[in-house]
Amino acid sequence: MHPIARNLRRAGAEKKPMDRSLLYISRKTIPLETDKAEIANILATARVHNAKVGITGGLINTNYAFAQLLEGPGEAIDDLMERIEDDPRHVNVQILRYYPITRRKLPDWSMAYSGPSSYVANRIEPLLGKDLEPDHRQIDRLAAMLVQFASAHDDPAELAEARGEPPPAWS
Ligand SMILES: Cc1cc2nc3c(=O)[nH]c(=O)nc-3n(C[C@H](O)[C@H](O)[C@H](O)COP(=O)(O)O)c2cc1C
Repeated sequence: MHPIARNLRRAGAEKKPMDRSLLYISRKTIPLETDKAEIANILATARVHNAKVGITGGLINTNYAFAQLLEGPGEAIDDLMERIEDDPRHVNVQILRYYPITRRKLPDWSMAYSGPSSYVANRIEPLLGKDLEPDHRQIDRLAAMLVQFASAHDDPAELAEARGEPPPAWS
């Protein structure tokens, strides 16, 4: 083999494979009465499993829909997505985008979570069931909102700001 080709091959082999980012939305099948408990179950499983395989991300939901961002090694994401797609707690799992990334948006959360809100609903629900011609701007806005909400999830002031609401009153 030509020395340059050999060097290139070596460089390629030593390069760490890039992480990938996947965003999907789905329609919930969980009855409202058991919603809280089921989401707690999902998060408990997700936090243990994702930490083990190097996945981070965020989950948001409305009364009817989920949106989830998964970031990490491609093989781990593919493997997890197979299980998520088979999960009976939702249907119509629509992958909106999936591509290699150099930097994660939610590197510090094995699975960040933000509870339901009508603001989130307005961003997710119009996209549900639309598999024709995805609107990339709408998808990017959803991803940005998910990152903002998920990373603000335990700070009521940041969450209010993300929702465009006045800051919570001091108690
Ligand atoms: C909306 C939604 C999001 C989920 N996110 C994750 C996740 O990030 N990580 C995870 O391990 N499981 C997640 N799960 C749970 C998986 O679908 C599955 O139940 C779990 O990985 C256990 O799979 P197993 O029973 O085949 O071992 C999610 C489920 C739902 C409905």
